[in-house]
Amino acid sequence: MAISRLTLVFFTVVSICYAFTDNPTVPPVFQVDLDLQPSARWAHIIQKYHQIVKDSHAVIRSKVPEKLIPIAEFIAADFDNLLEQPYADELRGIAITANMSLGDIVLTNLVYDISAFCTSITMQDAHGQIWHARNLDYGFTDILRNLTIRIDFMKNKKVSYSVVTYAGYVGVLTGQRPHAFAITLDERDQGAWYDNLLVALLERKVKPVSFLIRDTLAQAKDFTAALEMINSTVTAAEGYFIVSGTNKGEGAVITKNRVGANDIWRLDPSNGRWFEVETNYDHWTSPPASDNRRAPAIKSMNSMGQSNITVDSLFNVLSTPLVLNKKTTYSVVMSPAQPELMKVLVRHPATKN
Ligand SMILES: *[C@@H]1O[C@H](CO)[C@@H](O)[C@H](O)[C@H]1NC(C)=O
Ligand SMILES: *[C@@H]1O[C@H](CO)[C@@H](O)[C@H](O)[C@H]1NC(C)=O
Ligand SMILES: *[C@@H]1O[C@H](CO)[C@@H](O)[C@H](O)[C@H]1NC(C)=O
Ligand SMILES: *[C@@H]1O[C@H](CO)[C@@H](O)[C@H](O)[C@H]1NC(C)=O
Repeated sequence: MAISRLTLVFFTVVSICYAFTDNPTVPPVFQVDLDLQPSARWAHIIQKYHQIVKDSHAVIRSKVPEKLIPIAEFIAADFDNLLEQPYADELRGIAITANMSLGDIVLTNLVYDISAFCTSITMQDAHGQIWHARNLDYGFTDILRNLTIRIDFMKNKKVSYSVVTYAGYVGVLTGQRPHAFAITLDERDQGAWYDNLLVALLERKVKPVSFLIRDTLAQAKDFTAALEMINSTVTAAEGYFIVSGTNKGEGAVITKNRVGANDIWRLDPSNGRWFEVETNYDHWTSPPASDNRRAPAIKSMNSMGQSNITVDSLFNVLSTPLVLNKKTTYSVVMSPAQPELMKVLVRHPATKN
């Protein structure tokens, strides 16, 4: 998997420089009204961001594996057959507002789906409240930091679900359904994903993982329903789905293959497992020494302690060197039982030396 290998190489290089300064910023917040036609939902955002969406496309196109470009063009040419609603119409509306071709918009959306390196943590505090923390790390960081936004998806003038995303991207990698659950996706690299992608799309009943996350936020009413939906949906790629609910014990890391869950790893606070850290490796294996973000995250969680979980202490965990690295574009803390606590920071780490 070329992009991830590239990311890994970069990571190895940057992880040597561990002294960070960081001046995080708060991203803009938008509403997307689900009661509008899909093609009109994103216009107000794309009007603000069209130049940088175009710039990001140019950068991405110059860096992706050659193979991906004809796949994007193929999807664009048979758009309505290959992509489900509302995503097809939303992407079409974005292409029109940004004055870009459908193929270009599809390419950008594909890349975001598959090149994410991340850390997600689900946990239960000493009072039984469930929390969720995540960093999203990417290869195209400068532009992505400027595209990072929070969106509240509105239905009947109420927040149906909130997400952190990049302008121009209709799938979701980080989201919260208020008083129900929070969910994040970490990439699971299982080799030649783009060879499978076209086959997967042609099979029809498969979803890009980021569409499954958004569908789950839109449709699942609680933690259990979210788990079942992820477990039973065929996806175009594999992935780690980290889900945090509102009741005691409701935290899980789902290691998913394309057809269903390989493994559902649940919190077990009464036996001491009050948190679970997932990066980009199966939890039952050891991460490679060249990319071990898991160990520093676990160490930081243990030194924080179960009785000391707050939004700020979780941002400290997310700022642990290696967990926070040069590729980190944003950090998020959520607790779906108290949705107003959701806090997002765009990260701008820079090395001191
Ligand atoms: C849209 O893009 C086309 C081709 O790239 C260009 O000729 C045209 O001027 C653009 N229109 C606007 C409104 O930017
Ligand atoms: C991102 O935004 C900052 C501040 O507005 C700007 O200085 C920088 O050039 C932008 N970077 C890119 C890659 O667009
Ligand atoms: C996940 O799917 C498998 C196979 O269909 C099923 O046996 C299992 O009960 C499901 N688990 C959950 C939590 O939905
Ligand atoms: C609570 O967390 C803060 C910030 O991470 C840390 O400075 C403090 O020592 C912790 N207190 C306890 C009792 O663990």
